[in-house]
Order: sequence, then C-alpha cells, then structure tokens
Amino acid sequence: MSPPPLKVAVIGAGVAGLATARALKLEQHQVVIYEKSGHLGGTWVYDPRTESDPLGFDPNREIIHGSMYPSLQTNLPRQLMGFWDYPFSSKIRNGEFRTFPSHEEVLQFLIGFAEEFGLVDLIRFDNEVVRVERVGLRNDEWVVGSRTQGRSSEEIFDAVVVCNGHNTQPRLAHLLEISKVAKEIHLSSRALDIKISKLDYGHNIWQHSKIDCVHENGEVAFQDGAFIHADIILYCTGFNYHFPFLKTDGIVSVDDNRVGPLYKHVFPPKLAPNLSFVGITNRSFAVFVVIELQAKWVAKVLSGKANLPPEEEMVAEIEHYYQHLEEKGIPKHHTHSLGPQFHEYLDGISNQAGLAEVDEEIKLISKNYFSFVIENGLWRARGWG
Ligand SMILES: Cc1cc2nc3c(=O)[nH]c(=O)nc-3n(C[C@H](O)[C@H](O)[C@H](O)COP(=O)(O)OP(=O)(O)OC[C@H]3O[C@@H](n4cnc5c(N)ncnc54)[C@H](O)[C@@H]3O)c2cc1C
Ligand SMILES: *[C@@H]1O[C@H](CO)[C@@H](O)[C@H](O)[C@H]1NC(C)=O
Ligand SMILES: *[C@@H]1O[C@H](CO)[C@@H](O)[C@H](O)[C@H]1NC(C)=O
Repeated sequence: MSPPPLKVAVIGAGVAGLATARALKLEQHQVVIYEKSGHLGGTWVYDPRTESDPLGFDPNREIIHGSMYPSLQTNLPRQLMGFWDYPFSSKIRNGEFRTFPSHEEVLQFLIGFAEEFGLVDLIRFDNEVVRVERVGLRNDEWVVGSRTQGRSSEEIFDAVVVCNGHNTQPRLAHLLEISKVAKEIHLSSRALDIKISKLDYGHNIWQHSKIDCVHENGEVAFQDGAFIHADIILYCTGFNYHFPFLKTDGIVSVDDNRVGPLYKHVFPPKLAPNLSFVGITNRSFAVFVVIELQAKWVAKVLSGKANLPPEEEMVAEIEHYYQHLEEKGIPKHHTHSLGPQFHEYLDGISNQAGLAEVDEEIKLISKNYFSFVIENGLWRARGWG
C-alpha cells in the first residue's frame, strides 16, 4: 500500500516551483507554494530596478530577484522550454513564432501553464520563507517560517521542496550594448585557453587573462602583463547558491557553489526524501526538461511510487561523482554544471523515477543545439547557462 498523501511546502513560484507543484498535485499531495514576490514566474518576471548595492555586500539591502534586461530573448529554442504535455512550441502569441522568444513570452507561457493546471490558487504570494527546519518528536516533520507584510507565521509540513532559483546567465549582449558607447572594452577571464586578443565581434573589445589586481584609481593589471585604466568595472562573475532560510545543522551546506551532499543534485541522502531541491543543476541544455523530470521524481518518491537507494549507496555515488570531477580537473564550483552529460543525467532520473524516457525529438534538438554551441565557440565565449 502506498503511503497517504503528504502536505508539502514548495519554496518559490518560478519554473521549478510550478513544475514541482504540478507534479505533486498529480500525485495527490497537498501543496502550498510560498512566493516572496507578488508574481509567479521567478526569473522571467522582468524587473527594471537594480539593487542599491550592486555587488551585494549588504545583507539588509533590498534584493531584486530578476536579472533580465529589457531586450533579452531566450538562448534556448522554445522547443526545449516547454513541459511534456504543455509544449511552448504550440503556443503562438501575437502571431509570432520565433525560435528564441522574448522574456515576456516566456512569462506569458508560464502564467498560462499555472492557470491551466490550477496552480495559481496554491501560491501564497508575498510570503518570504525565512526558516526551514526539521522538528517534531521523531524529527520527521518540517517547520516552514514565513513573513508577509511584517507578520511572521509558521506551519508544519511533511516535506519541503526548495525551488528558490539561482539565476545564472552572464550576459554578453549586455556588454555588446555597452560597446556602442564605450571607447574600449576589456574582458577578463580565468579560463586557461584565453589569449590576449581583439575580439572578432567588436572593434573595441579586448580579451585578457585573469585580473591580477585593481587599484582604487581604476588601474587594472592583468596576469598577462597588460595594464589599462578602467572608468567602470563590471562584474559578470555569475551567481551563488543561497539558502538563507535553511537550517540543517550543517547536513546540507554550500561550499564554493557546491550544494551538498545532494544525490543527483536533488536529494540530501540524510534528509531524503522529505527535503529536496529542484532546479539546482546549471548549464543544462534543456532547463525546463531537467526541472520537470526532477519535479516528477520528487513527487513519485514522496508518494512511494519510486524508491531511492539506501542512504549509504546515495552517499557513495555522490563521493564517486566528486572524485570523478576532481580527476577530470573540474573545479568544485562546476559541481552542478551538467554540460555535455545532461542526456545521461536525464535518462538516469527517468529510470529512477520509473518515467518514460525524454522524448527523442527533444533529445535530438538539444543534442544538435549543443553541438552548434560548442562548434561555434559560444560555450566558452558566453559561459553558457
Ligand atoms: C538572464 C537569464 C537568461 C536565461 N535564459 C534562459 C533561456 O533562454 N532558456 C532557459 O530555459 N532558461 C534560461 N535561464 C535560466 C532560468 O533561470 C530558468 O529558465 C528558470 O527561470 C529557473 O527557474 P527556477 O524556478 O529554478 O528559479 P527562479 O525563476 O529564480 O524562481 C525562483 C522563485 O523563488 C522565489 N523565492 C526565492 N527565495 C524565496 C523565499 N525565501 N521565499 C519565497 N520565495 C522565494 C523567487 O521570488 C522566485 O519567484 C536564464 C536565466 C537568466 C538569469
Ligand atoms: C518523511 O515524512 C513522512 C510523513 O510525515 C514520515 O512518515 C517519515 O518518517 C519522514 N521521513 C524522514 C526520513 O524523516
Ligand atoms: C551557472 O553557470 C553560469 C555560467 O557558467 C555561472 O556564471 C553561474 O555562476 C552558475 N551559477 C551557479 C549558481 O553556480
């Protein structure tokens, strides 16, 4: 007999939170989605504001979740940005059918998805989760503490799925926009195969090695020996995983952007299955597809329709994976970058969750697209997410 439905808290109403809520609902679980903003869609909700402290040093600053710029179009084809029975490709808006749609269109698609499957009513808007901790006599329940309009409240759940996002993409178009008005642009990268050179796609853009030091007067010394005076220094150094609300006594931690230990980037073995993470993977070539599979896996495990391996086995696999990364010289901060292995990863999860394998057409499109990006040198140049 399968266990009774659970009461599950989902943190965040972006792609991951919505896909997770839907999967949980299909498995008859009772779902509450906490969303700190007044909107669903997460990253895809364009917010023109920028943070008062752009380097994010002040923990009390007002955090602006979005990091889109107004002219952003997707860098994945829309065929890879849909859900299995709710494809993006069939949703033509305003008579438009661009392969790489605008961010507005993605948001409209997500709103449509949430409405279609009755997810909007599950969302508690303007509710920021501030505490997630294991409680109860047998330590088998989870308390979720949240804040709304200055009021705090707490509620007990059987399980919690963390879907709070980790907005990823550095933006080359942003730099190109600047190149129209700047006299010179100097890019710095710690990638090993960078040569000092003028770039093909801009007469005034230069590529350099890692920065050695920056002086207060704007003088920048690169490790390749070059030396420039910069009026503005832009940090395009990516994002950090951040779970300020999560209290696990160190069972789950973030170390140099490695969130761990996580079995297949989703379950912390010691707290599985009642704590899980959806959307941690980065640089995958089909973000929505990966997220949806992770979401379904979590839902199936919570309803007892799929079983996780024993704790020691999950721990061993994680250690094996870390070792593999080390042997290949892949730095810790790329632990969750799926890159070229993303198909294997997808098949692994489908298999674990007893789900049908990912559609061949989706696989083919992502494979071809991936090859295109690699062959054209876009992977390295754009820090593809
Ligand atoms: C500039 C840029 C371009 C991108 N382009 C593409 C693309 O072309 N194609 C593609 O597929 N992907 C793209 N991505 C990746 C994108 O991140 C994913 O598509 C997707 O948005 C990830 O969804 P998510 O739910 O994991 O996170 P998010 O979209 O970030 O959603 C997280 C949600 O959690 C909420 N939240 C956070 N903390 C709390 C809290 N404590 N309490 C309550 N709620 C909380 C946030 O308000 C937010 O609504 C891009 C990302 C960026 C930044
Ligand atoms: C997960 O939650 C269920 C339902 O509350 C509970 O029976 C089970 O013991 C929990 N598992 C762990 C490992 O805490
Ligand atoms: C995801 O990958 C991009 C591109 O490499 C990187 O800039 C970003 O920091 C990564 N995000 C996280 C949270 O590691």
